[in-house]
Amino acid sequence: MTEHSRPLDVLILAAGQGTRMKSNLPKVLHPVAGRPMVAWAVKAAFELGARRTVVVTGHGAERVEAALAGSDVTFARQTQQLGTGHAFLCGAAALPQPEPGAGADILVLYGDTPLLRTETLRALVESHRTQGSAMTVLTGELPDATGYGRIVRGEGGEVERIVEQKDATPAERAIREFNSGVYVFDAQAPELAREIGNTNASGEYYLTDLLGLYHAQGAHVRAFRLDDPQEVLGANDRVGLTELERILQRRIQGEHLRAGVSLSLPETILIEDTVQLARDVTVEPGVILRGATRVAEGVTIGAYSVVTDSVIEEGVVIKPHSVLEGARVGAGSEVGPFARLRPGSVLAGGVHIGNFVETKNARLASGVKAGHLAYLGDVTIGEETNVGAGTIVANFDGVNKHQSTIGAGVFIGSNTTLLAPRVVGDAAFIAGGSAIHDDVPEGAMAVARGKQRNIGGWASRYWNSAGRREKLEQKLPWLAGWLRRQEKPGQ
Ligand code: UD1
Ligand code: CA
Repeated sequence: MTEHSRPLDVLILAAGQGTRMKSNLPKVLHPVAGRPMVAWAVKAAFELGARRTVVVTGHGAERVEAALAGSDVTFARQTQQLGTGHAFLCGAAALPQPEPGAGADILVLYGDTPLLRTETLRALVESHRTQGSAMTVLTGELPDATGYGRIVRGEGGEVERIVEQKDATPAERAIREFNSGVYVFDAQAPELAREIGNTNASGEYYLTDLLGLYHAQGAHVRAFRLDDPQEVLGANDRVGLTELERILQRRIQGEHLRAGVSLSLPETILIEDTVQLARDVTVEPGVILRGATRVAEGVTIGAYSVVTDSVIEEGVVIKPHSVLEGARVGAGSEVGPFARLRPGSVLAGGVHIGNFVETKNARLASGVKAGHLAYLGDVTIGEETNVGAGTIVANFDGVNKHQSTIGAGVFIGSNTTLLAPRVVGDAAFIAGGSAIHDDVPEGAMAVARGKQRNIGGWASRYWNSAGRREKLEQKLPWLAGWLRRQEKPGQ
């Protein structure tokens, strides 16, 4: 087996508490750019083609495990947080047993460093393998590395050990090269890690001690230097979290901009990492794009719209302040302003949804228009049907939801209520203000409302009573004059 075909196992340490988050949510589950922090590490492991990925959980273990359920990872519990060395041993117990002479490489990641790029990790593993190293530590350099473990090198520049901040001498604290906490080990690391003790300033088992143990064996230990130390930035509190989000947004948005997407005032826009945008998409200020959203060429997403888990096809215009979730919008459609498309809304091409229209579990065929103030729930609507302002599909009877079907080329007059379940045939016409409680056959005209009566001259009786006349004389003298002429015809 060559070093390049050696399997890679990934161990993600995620058992720590993160007290400074001041949160009921475990630290590693705080999201940045659409993923819990720990899921960024899992994604990197997946992209690296890891054979097995083990996540070491402890604080909030059930919630962390639930959040990662469905991704191909193995969990190892660390019931007491005795240090990174102890966490490593807990995780290593869940790795496949090494076959003699055919060990895997082990990559250690933290659950709270979402900025680490997969390319960086790939280069780290590659370097470890081509150099035939026993251990490679990912390091960075900072003018002031306070808080980090420091890399102590020997006279010939070789890496000797890592010293923690708390245990460092003043001279060691002046070292600018720091330990990122990311390492690649050969397959003997789990065995060697049993020798780690806890006689240090924290009384913890330090995984960093492995470096000294390898070195003492005369094994080949190296450092791999990060170009950009920012990549291993973690978050200890919510201030740190917003910083990670800001950096990731700049990174994600930069990729979209370079790929031909227009973002206006990008600092006001939030795009989760999972979102796909095609070229010539325009995103206006204040927009939030989340989850599995996919946006095709030439689409405009209007200011302050929020789009979650939705598919938007070519040339669609979403006008400002629209909210879409789990929706599909066909090519050339126009949605909003102030529209709300809820899950199961499937719009074919050329549909028009105007202001204050809500759809849910609604299939609208091409050319359907609902321009104003409507609720379309649990309904299928055929081609070129016009839904008048104020139309309500009353899908809920207080106990159950019901499904309705409206045909093609139907005209629904304004302020119509359709009491579900209802079937309206093709080319039917519904008079405005109707409460449709029976099905409407194809081509029929339905009127379902009180018949209108006009009572001549009734208004003069109204205006002459209860002191209303005086008010009328003051405010609408022309109307008062008109009423007088009505009372004395011929004058
Ligand atoms: C560790 C390194 C330090 C390095 C720094 C980089 C050690 C002893 N020190 O310090 O050299 O510069 O990371 O950020 O390793 N964890 C567990 N179980 C535990 C303890 C920690 O799972 O018992 C996990 C945490 O959830 C976290 C990671 O390990 O994801 C690192 O733990 P943390 O306590 O933050 O280590 P540092 O003190 O920062
Ligand atoms: Ca830390």
